[in-house]
Amino acid sequence: MKPSIYSNFIDRSYRPSRKDFVVEFSVRPGRGVSFEKAAGMVAGESSIGTWTKISTLNERIVRTLKPSIFYLNKKSHTIKIAYPGDLFEPGNIPQMLSSIAGNVFGMKGISGLRLEDIDFPNYFIKKFKGPRFGIKGVRKKLRVKKRPLLGTIVKPKLGLTAKEHAGVAFNAWIGGCDIVKDDENLSSMKFNKFGKRLKETLRLRDRAEKITGERKEYMPNVTAPFKEMLGRAKTARSLGSAYAMVDIVTVGWSALQQFRSDCPPLILHAHRAGHAAFTRSKDHGISMLVLAKLCRLIGMDQLHVGAIVGKMEGAKEEVQAIGEEIEDRVVQPDRKNHVLAENWLKTEPMFAVCSGGLHPGKVPLLVRAMGNDIIIQMGGGIHGHPSGTLAGSRAARYAVEASLKGIPLKHFAKTHLELDSAIKLWGALK
Ligand code: 3PG
Ligand code: 3PG
Ligand code: MG
Repeated sequence: MKPSIYSNFIDRSYRPSRKDFVVEFSVRPGRGVSFEKAAGMVAGESSIGTWTKISTLNERIVRTLKPSIFYLNKKSHTIKIAYPGDLFEPGNIPQMLSSIAGNVFGMKGISGLRLEDIDFPNYFIKKFKGPRFGIKGVRKKLRVKKRPLLGTIVKPKLGLTAKEHAGVAFNAWIGGCDIVKDDENLSSMKFNKFGKRLKETLRLRDRAEKITGERKEYMPNVTAPFKEMLGRAKTARSLGSAYAMVDIVTVGWSALQQFRSDCPPLILHAHRAGHAAFTRSKDHGISMLVLAKLCRLIGMDQLHVGAIVGKMEGAKEEVQAIGEEIEDRVVQPDRKNHVLAENWLKTEPMFAVCSGGLHPGKVPLLVRAMGNDIIIQMGGGIHGHPSGTLAGSRAARYAVEASLKGIPLKHFAKTHLELDSAIKLWGALK
């Protein structure tokens, strides 16, 4: 039967084939529109349909490219659509999103639509490089086998000169941080130019390594228009940086894909600033899970996923589900959290970064919820320490140590003064 005006895409008996993309949406129909009709609008507008019958839609197109809505649950607003793989250009993320995350979000007949998850067919996954380093590579570079990695963000976000910036980074390294990063909105500013900051900070990184005998790394934010961004990454590499940091949402998927191919072998840290414009509403937008999957496909090595007990929204179960999605080889479906099955084949796992509003008192709870394969970052929670950055960084490292040893922070703090002051200021979660 010819699918016309968005109808006839429902086929509950359909079983997805190995070449299909299986996509889960939450759908909220507009006034006077049935759930089924709204579901049909999503399937049609994201593939071969339009608002009226068209004479140009022939049998061949229908036979080869018609999507099937094979699951509908009105109560939970959930639908699952199997899209024939040929609807999507292999290796082209923007094209895929223009289909399943394009016009459909603005349709009058739909009051809310959320793209929850995409189960990619194997052949599509194979078109992407995935992370170059992944968890294993990052741990190797930093020579840290098991514990969570500790990082800080130089604060204030903007305003420090290159020299001041490097000085703050140095104190953080000396105190116990493994990694220091720029903030998401620091690039090359009048008061702090990228090149100068890079040189100064890497120079002090080397000194911090000598003093501590530990491996220390800096994550310079290279976010900029594409050519400039690539140039900055190359400069970072040539000056001895192991990392580059990118704001994945604001640079866009096309730039990110190209960056992954053209970038010299640097560990790529993905900051998700702006993601909440898509992910925050549970009724409309794109889930963080989907954004995280795209990052793993393209090949970021580390990604901000939420901090559960931090300053930004993000429910525990959701953050945990994202953590599993980016770390596991085979992901089991989890209906409650809108997670579909996925087989990542040989794609390396990415490090989950927990950041935003953390302090030492939150570390044990975070590690219990997320495990050891995380990067814990604290900005305010280190530079806000009553005795400054160095003491703050020590306090944070003690908190990591205590939680690995299973010693309650309050107890550990009795013999670790910097931790004691941090807990007195911010408290400690049980
Ligand atoms: C980041 O970019 O991850 C942050 O700026 C975190 O800062 P905060 O720890 O002060 O919230
Ligand atoms: C920040 O910059 O303050 C945070 O890193 C933002 O939080 P997120 O890690 O949840 O994106
Ligand atoms: Mg920040």
